[in-house]
Amino acid sequence: MTVIVTGGAGFIGSNFIFYMLKKHPDYRIVCVDKLTYAGNLSTLEPVMKLPNFRFVKLDICDREGIYKLFEEEKPDITVNFAAESHVDRSIENPDIFLKTNILGTAVLMDACRKYGIKRYHQVSTDEVYGDLPLDRPDLFFTEDTPIHTSSPYSSSKAGADLLVLSYYRTFDLPVTVSRCSNNYGPYHFPEKLIPLMIANALHDKPLPVYGKGLNVRDWLYVEDHCKALDLIIHKGRVGEVYNIGGHNEMRNIDIVKLICRELGKPESLITYVTDRKGHDMRYAIDPTKIKNELGWTPETKFEDGIKKTIRWYLDNREWWETIINGEYRDYYERMYANR
Ligand code: NAD
Ligand code: DAU
Repeated sequence: MTVIVTGGAGFIGSNFIFYMLKKHPDYRIVCVDKLTYAGNLSTLEPVMKLPNFRFVKLDICDREGIYKLFEEEKPDITVNFAAESHVDRSIENPDIFLKTNILGTAVLMDACRKYGIKRYHQVSTDEVYGDLPLDRPDLFFTEDTPIHTSSPYSSSKAGADLLVLSYYRTFDLPVTVSRCSNNYGPYHFPEKLIPLMIANALHDKPLPVYGKGLNVRDWLYVEDHCKALDLIIHKGRVGEVYNIGGHNEMRNIDIVKLICRELGKPESLITYVTDRKGHDMRYAIDPTKIKNELGWTPETKFEDGIKKTIRWYLDNREWWETIINGEYRDYYERMYANR
């Protein structure tokens, strides 16, 4: 079995590659990644020399390059993680989000049509459903919740989802789509909430909480997401969408306070800053379908997952300090200096 994993030098893609190589040691994994600011080749260092792993630096929008790779590798499965993934950057510059997230997805699906595929899987997000109000804790996103996006990022992901599902209906391409809630864990790029707060706290820098910090996210340990994807690509029904989430809703401010407590840092580091434009209030997944159909349930409790994650950032300072000392500095300055 040959599996192409796009975006495998990023946060979730790299965790998925590690998971798959361990779970299916007889599979060949081919990682395709453009190595944008969010991609890190050093992350893949532990698997780089394995005989059943290949890394290819390639943009998923490069039609010629992607076709050539499909011709060479004849993949059985393609799992598309490659994306511009950060909402704040999409507010700054939507253009690249449309290119990579929509046009890049189209190139991959055209390659699958041309060369044949047993399964194309699109890794999507709960953000395509928009947000839920704080005063209706009884409401959750199901697979039937209408698409209702808020940011250029989520709109580009929703566009890709619709395109993928249209390739199933029109061309019979064997596709599946998953929509997951917020992930956390090792190799999370330090511009996202949890790793940013850990890194800033360790440097005794202000912890910038948007608005009042009351927005709610539904956190899932990254390995649980990888397990769900493994089940979907092998046992999920083609043409179907599966929501992935573990009923672990938390307010941003409570996460930041917890990180302070775990690291023995004072809450006085918390600084309330101007809110994100169009900021979604609450995400909450109903995972009934994946539980009933595929038997998936999350295994890592948040109390344990967050401790493991903090431990990882303490033990792997070089990984994230190299990032925050590079071009990330300009990003941080642009995003937070006058906020
Ligand atoms: P990430 O930003 O950490 O990684 C994205 C990877 O894609 C990087 O390695 C980057 O170099 C690569 N990439 C970007 N543009 C590319 C292109 N044109 N061609 C090839 N490679 C390209 O993202 P992540 O957090 O790991 O998210 C992975 C996927 O999961 C995304 O599709 C995202 O929408 C989705 N998702 C993320 C979360 C989350 O909480 N992080 C939750 C649900 C869904
Ligand atoms: O829900 C899934 C989505 O989760 C994925 O599709 C995205 O790719 C992923 O980036 C993530 O999006 P969010 O916007 O929810 O994640 P982020 O870590 O950027 O922000 C989480 C919350 O924390 C959000 O309410 C904004 C807030 N926040 C974030 C940062 C970076 C702050 O308060 N301060 C910050 O500095």
